Amino acid sequence: MRLPLLSLLFFTCSVHSYNILVYIPKFAISHIHFMGKLADSLVDAGHNVTALISEMDSNLPDGTKKSQKIIRISPGEGADHMNTHFMTKDTMDMFEMEFDSYSASVENAYHNSVSFCIQCRKMLTTPGLVERLKRDKYDVLITEAFEMCGVGLSHLISPRALIPVSSSLLFDPSPFGLHYSLVSEPSIMLDGRFHSTLYSRLKTIYHWFIFRAFLDTQTVPLQKVFEELYPGTPSFSSLLSDSAVVFANTDPLVDFARPTLSKVVPIGGIGVPTPKPLDEYWSGILSLRSRSVLVSFGSIAKSVLMHPSRKAALLKAFASFPDTTFIWKYENTSDDFARLEVSRVRNVILAEWMPQKDLLADSRLTLFISHGGMASCHEISHAGVPSLLIPIFGDQINNAAALAHVGIAQVFNKFDMIHSDKIRKAIEEMIENSSCKSNAVRIRDQLAARPSSPVERLVKNVEFAARFGPSKSLRPLNLELSTIQFLGLDLIMVILSLIFIAAVLSFYFCKLLRVLASVVHVRKVQKLE
Ligand SMILES: *[C@@H]1O[C@H](CO)[C@@H](O)[C@H](O)[C@H]1NC(C)=O
Ligand SMILES: *[C@@H]1O[C@H](CO)[C@@H](O)[C@H](O)[C@H]1NC(C)=O
Ligand SMILES: *[C@@H]1O[C@H](CO)[C@@H](O)[C@H](O)[C@H]1NC(C)=O
Repeated sequence: MRLPLLSLLFFTCSVHSYNILVYIPKFAISHIHFMGKLADSLVDAGHNVTALISEMDSNLPDGTKKSQKIIRISPGEGADHMNTHFMTKDTMDMFEMEFDSYSASVENAYHNSVSFCIQCRKMLTTPGLVERLKRDKYDVLITEAFEMCGVGLSHLISPRALIPVSSSLLFDPSPFGLHYSLVSEPSIMLDGRFHSTLYSRLKTIYHWFIFRAFLDTQTVPLQKVFEELYPGTPSFSSLLSDSAVVFANTDPLVDFARPTLSKVVPIGGIGVPTPKPLDEYWSGILSLRSRSVLVSFGSIAKSVLMHPSRKAALLKAFASFPDTTFIWKYENTSDDFARLEVSRVRNVILAEWMPQKDLLADSRLTLFISHGGMASCHEISHAGVPSLLIPIFGDQINNAAALAHVGIAQVFNKFDMIHSDKIRKAIEEMIENSSCKSNAVRIRDQLAARPSSPVERLVKNVEFAARFGPSKSLRPLNLELSTIQFLGLDLIMVILSLIFIAAVLSFYFCKLLRVLASVVHVRKVQKLE
């Protein structure tokens, strides 16, 4: 029985096997994990996946473990600029910084663009590479629409289909012909729960400009690299507008509802690993007290670099729940804070590493305190655990707000972390609010019962795109409008002109009537006389 089944499997796989290129620029761990997971899922589905890995920062992992073939672009001189100049993660207290101002955004984008340009140039000038990729005849090129080098590359190597993805929300939907209203839709840069107030809608418009500046600062120099090396390369926007399908790392069940297009396919949660049962050590820790709380702020914002006043406030708040064990991801368990202060508090355990997904899946865990990174948020919603989210930067603000919107999280302002009483109150509310737990369980069950899984949606849509390429019907016609036409400014001008002309005409018409009337009047008077 086993043999025919195996050969049947092999037969079905080999018939539909497509040649897929996944471009993975190594600049940020969350992006790499997401792209790697896509590549590996496609390998699992029987496809021939080549990973094109651009080593911007070679300290980072590859992301993909299963791709059949890896083409590696070695680091260009200074390509790790963005990680050594802006995101100096090894020294920076991210809990203290303001990230969403205009100048911080543009500065961030500038440092990104320096790295992106150096490494993209390095790839495009690697002898024979572009020709070789063209000869390989890929059915599909999958690339992020954030670092745009892969988008430009699609023009040079002509895959049958270009598939852009976002490892976050679809934060610039406009190249695909999708437009969010600035005044009626929650901004993806802000806490979407408050979008109806005058102030927040004004802020939405302001943030739209900040975000445009961010994207332009990051992308325009890269476009110039293509113009210089391959004159005649179309704009990234126009290449993106012809994409066959667009993947976004979001799940509609745990996000704000926004307008969308048929070609935008949400595959959020695709990277959520299957949890394993805890080993004896971790299981023992969860059994220490009646409740357990996990505390982790991810890999970028390090707890060890937090200002001492913030660490002390957290510790004081945790210590006030003697019947609850707090497991805190802390990067150096032998520093002064760990040795001298935490060691005196019985219910707080520091850990340099912990099996986060397995702990979250254990029913003994009461609460998760987290930064609200995209990957963590998917893990939270799949695990059915309530969370207290302290967003630090970027899409974390939206992610946290979305989980609060569906009733499974509370958002806590990072600048309030110095007040231990506020932290204490927030934790207490979350622990005692049973509706959060029941909402979390409901969302977990909904996610498990979805009509199609994110992996299925990924694989089927990639296969469809590989076979047919982009479909004209999926491309919105608004892409052919100029900005003036799109905003209806020409229409408004015509209507205003007509109103003006009508007003002028009626003014003169009235004047004429009055003259006629007075003539008639004069005649009448003359007749009477
Ligand atoms: C997979 O794709 C690569 C790149 O196009 C090619 O060199 C290789 O021969 C392919 N392998 C199979 C088994 O088709
Ligand atoms: C942890 O802290 C101790 C004491 O400050 C220091 O000696 C040690 O180098 C640190 N370890 C790491 C990995 O940073
Ligand atoms: C409990 O949480 C729910 C959902 O987040 C919220 O609507 C409700 O007001 C909370 N109740 C209390 C008593 O805090």
